[in-house]
Amino acid sequence: MTDRTAPAAHPIAAPLAARWSPRSYEERAVPDAALAQVLEAARWAASCVNDQPWNYIVARKEKEAEGYAKIFSCLSANNQGWAGRAPVLIIGVARQNFAHNGNPNRHAAYDLGQATANLAAEAATLGLQAHQMAGFDAAKAREAFAIPAGFDPLVAITLGYPGPASALPEALAARETAPRARRPIAEFTHLGAWGAAGSPA
Ligand SMILES: Cc1cc2nc3c(=O)[nH]c(=O)nc-3n(C[C@H](O)[C@H](O)[C@H](O)COP(=O)(O)O)c2cc1C
Repeated sequence: MTDRTAPAAHPIAAPLAARWSPRSYEERAVPDAALAQVLEAARWAASCVNDQPWNYIVARKEKEAEGYAKIFSCLSANNQGWAGRAPVLIIGVARQNFAHNGNPNRHAAYDLGQATANLAAEAATLGLQAHQMAGFDAAKAREAFAIPAGFDPLVAITLGYPGPASALPEALAARETAPRARRPIAEFTHLGAWGAAGSPA
């Protein structure tokens, strides 16, 4: 299996360092208990007024074969080039209005993202990896799953055990093994004032 541990400049929690977005997956299924565990991690994300606007359409390749095929059919051609190796496909959907008063929730997408970040980090603790994708047809997903108005399909996700890069076509294999890079802390941290770029340590 490809080692993609983040070359972090400061020590970070093990699941955060271990998480990455593979395109090669082993064929073996994700145990149901592990799938429940990653959804449980999503469940415990923070959200605006604890509204928990996240929803996930989850399809296991064998157990929800029809749903799996539907999600796959919504993916962009690029993502279809590798995502079919994953044993689980997911679509993340945000409820756009607060449950308690029906007002628009400006943070619904933010909260779905937080839940999905939890899901991905928990997956990494189990040796699984999730790969989030913007490259899917949200209108097609809405139609395929009869997602009602007021719910926004925002992300597709693969989940499974990462496989060898060598199983991928050459161009994808190169991306799978390319060095992982991030902007430095000082480039996105503004200490006390906008534009006052800096790292606290
Ligand atoms: C919202 C979102 C959308 C993404 N869309 C795609 C996508 O459509 N196809 C793809 O191959 N990767 C996609 N990615 C994966 C990113 O390219 C990846 O997270 C980034 O390159 C950092 O790599 P890492 O996750 O391995 O650290 C997406 C990630 C996020 C969070």
